[in-house]
Formats: sequence, C-alpha cells, structure tokens
Amino acid sequence: MADPKNDVFLRALRRQPTVRTPVWIMRQAGRYLPEYREVRAEAGDFMSLCRNARLACEVTLQPLRRFKLDAAILFSDILTVPDALGLGLYFETGEGPRFRRPVRSAAAIRRLSVPDVHSELGYVFEAVSTIRKALDGRVPLIGFAGSPWTVATYMVEGRSSRDFAIIKGLAKEDPQALLSLLDVVTETTVQYLNAQIDAGAQAIMVFDTWGSALEPDDYRRFSLANMQTIVDNLVRDKGAEPIPVILFTKGAGALLADMADTGCDALGVDWTTDLQTARRYVEDKVALQGNLNPATLRESPEVIRQGVADTLASYGHGPGHVFNLGHGITPDIDPEHLGVLVDAVHELSPPYHE
Ligand code: CP3
Repeated sequence: MADPKNDVFLRALRRQPTVRTPVWIMRQAGRYLPEYREVRAEAGDFMSLCRNARLACEVTLQPLRRFKLDAAILFSDILTVPDALGLGLYFETGEGPRFRRPVRSAAAIRRLSVPDVHSELGYVFEAVSTIRKALDGRVPLIGFAGSPWTVATYMVEGRSSRDFAIIKGLAKEDPQALLSLLDVVTETTVQYLNAQIDAGAQAIMVFDTWGSALEPDDYRRFSLANMQTIVDNLVRDKGAEPIPVILFTKGAGALLADMADTGCDALGVDWTTDLQTARRYVEDKVALQGNLNPATLRESPEVIRQGVADTLASYGHGPGHVFNLGHGITPDIDPEHLGVLVDAVHELSPPYHE
C-alpha cells in the first residue's frame, strides 16, 4: 500500500525533519463528539461498535472531518485482548469496564492459554483494513494494544481500580503466578499487534495507563519487561522504513530513561513531566509525544492557545515532537475547543522547525 500523503506524524516519530509539529489526540474518537454518540446508539453499545468494521471505521474518521489531525487511531479498546482470553468483557453504563470471570488464583491463571487471534480478534483486523482503505493515504493509521501489566490489572481486579489491592497482593504472594499471567497476555499481544500491522497499521502504540502504580523495581519487572518483549517481537519491516512504536506509561517521570532504552521510537509523556525535562531523561534517543493537560481544554480559547505555545516551547527546537494531550480527551469537552488546540499547533509550531 502507498505511503501516506501526509507523513509528518511518521517522520516526527523517526525524528526526521518536518515543517511543523504533527498533532493527534488520544481518544479523538469518542463521547465529546455528538456524531460519535449517534453512531454508538446505532450500534447499541460500545463493544458492538468495536465489532462492526463499518461503524468502527466511521467513528475513526469523524474527528478527521472536523480537525486538521495528522494521524488516525483504530477505534477499538485495550480490553479486547482479555475478552479474547475468555474473561467476558462487558460495560456497565456509567461505571466502565467489567469482567464476568476475573482471574484471581494461580489455578485460574494456569487455565489461560494464548487464543487464535485470527478467529477471536478477526473483527479488529477487519476494522484496520477497512479504515486503511477509507483513509486512502490521507494520514497514517495507528494500531494499539494495552501493556500486559495494565491489561492484567483489569483481568485480576475485574474492573477499574484505584489501589490495585488484589493484583498487588498477587505480586507479593505469588509473583510467579503473576509473571505467567503476564506471559500469556504478552504473547497474545505480540500476535495481536503483528496481525494489526499485517492488516495495515502504520504505527503502533502501547498504552500502559497503570504502570506508575508500581514502585520502580516492580515497574521494570512487571510492566517494562513485557513492553520490551513486545518491542523485540513486532515484525516492523513492512515498507521502506520500519513501523514506529510508541510506548506510553502514564506518570512515568524519570522512568522515561529506562523506557527509552527498549528500542522503541517514541514515548508518550503525560502533563506531570515537562517535555524539556523528559527530553533530558531520554537524551534524544527517542521522539516524545504529548503533553498538554487535558483539563486545559475546559478553559477559554486564549488559555488553550497559551497552553499549546507553552508545550511547544517546552519541547523546544528540532524534530521529534508529536503534539498530543497528556492523556485522553474527556467527554465533557466542547469540540470547538479541540479545534482551537489543533489550529494553534499548525500556526505556532513552524518556527520550531526552521
Ligand atoms: O483514542 C482513540 O480514539 C481510540 C480508541 C480507544 C478507546 N480506548 C476507545 C474507548 C483507545 C486507544 C482506548 C484505550 C484504553 N481503554 C485505555 C488506555 C488509554 C487510557 O485512556 O488510559 C484504557 C485504560 C481502556 C479501558 C477502558 N475502555 C475504560 C477504562 C473505559 C471506560 C472509560 C470511560 O470513560 O467510560 C473504556 C471504554 C472506551 N474505550 C470508550 C471509548 C471511546 C468509551 C465508551 C463509550 O462510548 O461509552
């Protein structure tokens, strides 16, 4: 398939020169858009939307029609993987994801095995190829998965958690059981992401939302080690240049230095670390993606523009910055405010590339 007509995002991930800073937004397809809520209602519920390639493609394209974004992201979820492992994912209205059969004991972990991703997750690969065709090279398509640790928190806790008491108890009492759970998720994720690449994904992002709930040594053992395995086992040689990989541990802080040594191309940074500081941690080994506080989008257009200006200045001159929020856009945001952000990146970033 042809290279994208707008390759500024892929070039920035590879730290190649660009004329401006590319921009996309985590959760850019979602509930803050009325047209998304309409399609979700048509699908019935969130997972039915994910399983319908035509509708998943439609909601992926919606934000691109409104805003000058430089990448599309597959519409799906990180919890498709444990669903394929047989845990029974469902969404309780207003309460987030739940599993019918959480995995809490060494015996339950031993019963897990790597599924055939093509039969269990074929709907995701069909969505990828449908979206890729519909994009027709306008912008590159990002495929993604959760980090094995973050996915395991949902598998063990059975739902979103604040303190991760059950999985942290398992890490203390039976670390080998937790490691074998992580192995199954990691192997499944490698196959899942390679199949997304085969279906047409042009960059890969791994979301580690909960890695920073661990202390640094446990982070390296239970989260970073598995992301390293993923980076090592992705088949990235598909075109003229390897498919770039982005790792995002929310709240990583100084651990960004360890993450930069995995051989990934870029790191997502949340708003609790200045990009200037992050750039020092990673010693220009990788590109950086981020990191405006999503709460800034609740402010006035003037404040949003200033936030964009400050974020661009914090990264400073040179290639290797992909503009994004520090975490996903929230459902309460006025879409016009996102328009202000995207336009400001287009307008204010070129001087940083002269
Ligand atoms: O970014 C995008 O536009 C692509 C789609 C995407 C979704 N989820 C769609 C979604 C991506 C990349 C994700 C990743 C994801 N899912 C993460 C990691 C990133 C992060 O935000 O930290 C996590 C932890 C999940 C798990 C998950 N899925 C939760 C906790 C929830 C409920 C969240 C909520 O706000 O209710 C979901 C559901 C979900 N995934 C929605 C969307 C658009 C909302 C579903 C709806 O329409 O009701």
